[in-house]
Amino acid sequence: MFDRSIKIAPSILSADFANFGAEIRAIEAEGADWVHVDVMDGHFVPNLTFGPPAVAAFRPHVKTFMDVHLMIAPVDPYIEAYAKAGADMITAHVEAGPHIHRTLQAIRATGKMAGVSLNPGTPAESISDILDLTDMVLVMSVNPGFGGQKFIPTAIEKVRKVRQMIGDRPIHIQVDGGVDPTTVGPLVAAGADCFVAGSAVFKGGSVDKPEVYGQNIRAIREAALKAIG
Ligand code: DX5
Ligand code: ZN
Repeated sequence: MFDRSIKIAPSILSADFANFGAEIRAIEAEGADWVHVDVMDGHFVPNLTFGPPAVAAFRPHVKTFMDVHLMIAPVDPYIEAYAKAGADMITAHVEAGPHIHRTLQAIRATGKMAGVSLNPGTPAESISDILDLTDMVLVMSVNPGFGGQKFIPTAIEKVRKVRQMIGDRPIHIQVDGGVDPTTVGPLVAAGADCFVAGSAVFKGGSVDKPEVYGQNIRAIREAALKAIG
């Protein structure tokens, strides 16, 4: 059921690309709440990653919750394929096309949860009319396309605005990009509950040293919980 407890969602964009099954099992064993899958098309963002068959291959390894972040345009023609691949949540960007309302309806029509994402240059107000169609707002704190970028601090104020706009609705607020123990605190204080982290989770670890993933996840979670007090 819906709650605003802190969730850490490691992005497998920072995993070993020759070893996804073992990487997913390792991060879950070490405390990941969700598994975040970054889908890129070389058009909406300047990078290419996972088609539906890759996501379907990840699915049996994910025991928690598979959170699929679509950085693709157009998005509507691929929704069904990513739903069939086994996503639990499908997030589309408000900038990816002129009809985000239709896109969110199409995601919900597959029976999956629907997220909407905002790039750093897109104002919170752009989603004010579609909140009732969403289960999550993803506030990007880097320009999407690559892991390991520097956190853009204007995301904090945007989270605060989105949190106010949401009111009592059961909608998660996720932040993605440059999240680590030093940046997570103000985001929690502003109202975010779900944190994507790629480099901050995978750095220093491997499937042979999974305890490092555990230390990294705990460090983010502890910094987050400290901000709640
Ligand atoms: C960026 C992706 C992110 C990325 C985060 O386009 O959406 O999920 O992997 O990576 P870090 O945590 O390294 O900034
Ligand atoms: Zn992402």
